[in-house]
Amino acid sequence: MNFLIPFIAVLLLVATSTDVSANIRYVHARAVTSTDHYLDVVPIEETLTSSVMCVKLCATDVRCLSINYHKNKTCQLLDTFYCKDNTYVLKSESGFKYMDVDFNRQPDEMKLYQNSVACVSQNRCSPKCRDACVLRSAYSNVVNGYIDGTLATLDDTMGVTMGQCQNTCISHSTGVCIAIQYFPIIQSCTYLSMTRDMVHPELFKYSFDLEYRERVCI
Ligand SMILES: *[C@@H]1O[C@H](CO)[C@@H](O)[C@H](O)[C@H]1NC(C)=O
Repeated sequence: MNFLIPFIAVLLLVATSTDVSANIRYVHARAVTSTDHYLDVVPIEETLTSSVMCVKLCATDVRCLSINYHKNKTCQLLDTFYCKDNTYVLKSESGFKYMDVDFNRQPDEMKLYQNSVACVSQNRCSPKCRDACVLRSAYSNVVNGYIDGTLATLDDTMGVTMGQCQNTCISHSTGVCIAIQYFPIIQSCTYLSMTRDMVHPELFKYSFDLEYRERVCI
């Protein structure tokens, strides 16, 4: 029932220009709100502005991963997000909204997460919240690119098809594989223990050479 759902639907879609580093992760940011709550951490920046401008500010600041917004126009940019750490709490305070900022997600995908049990019962509504959901065998968030470095890498194999890559991830023997990167030219598959927005969206590099996809977790 609706009154039990603490998070409200997709709030804003922001298109912004990007800086010279040509990282385009900020082209679409979607903020999902939790009304009358705020994330109890020290903000990296606090300004007085509209909620639309607040999301824009976040979308153009590489450090910003979520937002507390008060109806008195207080905009707090945060360099972390609710599901990042089990010790974080969403404190209840009238007039505040906590917003998870999700980058480059499709509306259908966001709807899936907002209707999930984890969202309804535990306020874990962002696709970044991977601790309170069940990993499925379907994949989403398909995009051309890769997570730079090995922070999220479990291991890799060569000479496999995309289908084999996806199946091996699902039944990975040494770790929980939640995303893959596939390099068709050399048929190489990299198994990942974190998604691109769990490490930090900034580490994701767009490239037509590789295909990245994530397992649905709801
Ligand atoms: C807005 O509300 C917050 C939370 O109650 C408070 O801390 C802050 O001082 C208020 N700011 C203004 C400008 O009224």
